[in-house]
Order: sequence, then C-alpha cells, then structure tokens
Amino acid sequence: MHTRPISNLQSPTPETHSPTTSPFLAACWRQPTDVTPVWFMRQAGRYMPEYRALREKYGLLEMMRIPELAAQVTLMPLRLGVDTLILFADILLPLVALGFDLTFVPGKGPVLDPPLRNADDVARLRPVKVEEALGYVLETVHLVRAAVEGRVPLIGFAGAPFTLASYAIEGGSSRHYLRTKRLMYEDPQTWHAFMDRLADVTLAYLRAQVRAGAQAIQLFDSWVGALSPADYRAYVLPYSQRILDGLADLGVPRIHFGTGTAGMLPLLREAGGDVIGVDWRIDLDRAWALVGYDVGIQGNLDPVVLLAPREVIAREVRRILRQANGRPGHIFNLGHGILPETPVENVAFVVEMVHQMTIDDGR
Ligand code: CP3
Repeated sequence: MHTRPISNLQSPTPETHSPTTSPFLAACWRQPTDVTPVWFMRQAGRYMPEYRALREKYGLLEMMRIPELAAQVTLMPLRLGVDTLILFADILLPLVALGFDLTFVPGKGPVLDPPLRNADDVARLRPVKVEEALGYVLETVHLVRAAVEGRVPLIGFAGAPFTLASYAIEGGSSRHYLRTKRLMYEDPQTWHAFMDRLADVTLAYLRAQVRAGAQAIQLFDSWVGALSPADYRAYVLPYSQRILDGLADLGVPRIHFGTGTAGMLPLLREAGGDVIGVDWRIDLDRAWALVGYDVGIQGNLDPVVLLAPREVIAREVRRILRQANGRPGHIFNLGHGILPETPVENVAFVVEMVHQMTIDDGR
C-alpha cells in the first residue's frame, strides 16, 4: 500500500478558484453565473473507455491507492467539459482505516469483513490518524490541484455516517438494511457509539482533504432514504450535523447528498449543507422549495435518461432547467451516480446542452 507522508501539503494558487472564476463555486454560494454549472456523480468510471483501459491493468483499490493513477482518473472527465472534478476515491476507504477488510467482488459489489455486529466490534475499531491511514487520498488531492492548473475546482468527499454504518453492519450492499436497523433499535448504545466514531473520522478526513486542496466537499448519505424521518432525526441527524458544522470554518461549500429523501428534505437541510443534492424521485422545484431558497440545490436527472434517445435527454434536461427557473444556486447533476452502460457522447451532450441553454437564457 502506498502511504507516503504528506505533511506540509498546501493548496497551490487558491486564488484561482474563487467564485468569480468558477461557475460551480459561484453556484454553491448562490451567486449568479453565466452558465449553469454541471458535473456528474461517478463521472470518472467504467463508462469511459480510457478508464476501462486502465482498469484492465489495475485493481480498483490499487488505482485509488496509487496517487498518480487516482489523479489521472480524476482528470479524465475534463474532456467532457464538466465544471468541476471530483476526487477519484471511494466512500468505503475510511472503513479500511477503521479495520475492515474491503474487497470489490464482481457482480456483488463491495464486501466488508468482518461485519460490525455488537459493542465488542465497536471497541475493536482501530484509532485512525487520517494523515497516515488515508495519506494516499490527500496526496491525490495535491496532485490533481497541481495538474488542473486552475481550470476547474476539485470536490473532496466522504460517506455520511449512516451510509457507512450500513455497509459496515451489513457487510456490503443491502436492500432492506435489516441488520443496520436492528442494531439501531435493539442496541442504541452501540449504534450511537459507532456513529460517534464514524462522525469523528469523517470530519477529520474531510478537514484533511480541504487542507490538502479540495475546494468543495460532498457528504454522500446515499442510502439514508431507507429511514423514516423520525428515525433519521433520532439516530442519524446529529452525526451528519456534527460533520457539516465542523467544516463551516474552512469556508468551502458543503454539498449534502442523499437519495430517496423526498420525505425528509427539511431534516437533511437542518443537518446542514450549503447545497442539498436530490434524486429524480422529486421535482427539482418542489425539492428546492422544501429545503429553502437560502441553500443551493444539486440534481436531478435520472441516470437512466442518459441511455435514452437524444430527444428524451433534451426534454428532461430542459424540464429540470425550467424548474430551476434561472434562480442562482442550481448545480446540474444526476440524481445518483452515472451507470457503466452510459454512452460517453451523451454525457458530453448534456454538458453542452446545459451550458448552451443557460446562455440562450440571456443570463
Ligand atoms: O464520482 C466519482 O467519479 C468519484 C469517485 C467515486 C467512486 N465511488 C469511485 C468508484 C465516488 C464519489 C464514490 C462514492 C461511493 N462509493 C458511494 C456513494 C455514491 C453512490 O453512488 O451512492 C457508494 C455507495 C460507494 C460504494 C461503492 N463503490 C459501490 C456500491 C461500488 C460498486 C461496486 C461494483 O461492483 O460496481 C463501488 C465501486 C466504485 N467506486 C467504482 C467507482 C468508479 C466502480 C468502478 C470499477 O469497478 O472499476
């Protein structure tokens, strides 16, 4: 494993990434922009031929752990014209630092071993010094910032405590989150102890990413929509809130993302974030009204639309832009990650279309 020391990392030329030069950063702060900024969750991945070519030679974790490779992959979507990059890493990496063994099993997804099931398992979690355990990610941030030369900013990210806990407790992906919710209900003390550890590590990790040069952060609570609003408030909100509040002094915009959150958007907003990311199961205008116009909104094209005929793509992009209604603070994105089957040309087409349509708008 590559664990290079990365002390003394400083962001190169921070002044080149002010909101005045980046429509993405401006929109995060709800400032007017010439074009609606656009990027895609999972924009560096298997749908790109150059990614697949590299993947033939390296394992997924290997690529993430070699900063030169991770930086190379992070930069790949530049050719599509996106307005920001997102670090090539995975939300599950901090679980490795905590002592879980992580493998990606073809056809099955991530496997975490051994799964966490009780108080003893929480007591066994390793202490984490993020600069050491996740230094390779911080080194990647540094390399990307140096290579991108101010063209677009770089988003750092982490998984939110609930989504991370679900992978650790289920031992991988899940449909009903049975074990996760059972631990929550049967042994709340252990649940809270685990969430507390996850929140601490995540906050330290995100702060380190920003120190290394990340200019925005996204907190992925991908699976939080599995919870009732009451359970979200009782078992999850305080931890996500602690992380988001704990980043406030750094001055970088915080994007708070989840799927299936239509029934709990005011709670997500209460937990924090300068921008709330939503999926396609709710109309963007309704979602924005629910979270409030004093935060930005990110979303919310159904990723499957990228596999549809061009006229359908165009219609759906238009519909989302119409719902955003030219209000400053919209960042165009999918409602969830890009699918491996997606034609690359369609991704470039959406970037072009979002930019063009917002220019035609006369802004
Ligand atoms: O967005 C980006 O381009 C940045 C990189 C990124 C990855 N994972 C790389 C990756 C980001 C932001 C993530 C986040 C992530 N990882 C989430 C939250 C976002 C979401 O989609 O909900 C989750 C839940 C994970 C966990 C994870 N990692 C899963 C479920 C999988 C799929 C497993 C599989 O077998 O396909 C991964 C693997 C993964 N992470 C890939 C990539 C590009 C697949 C690539 C490959 O196999 O080469």
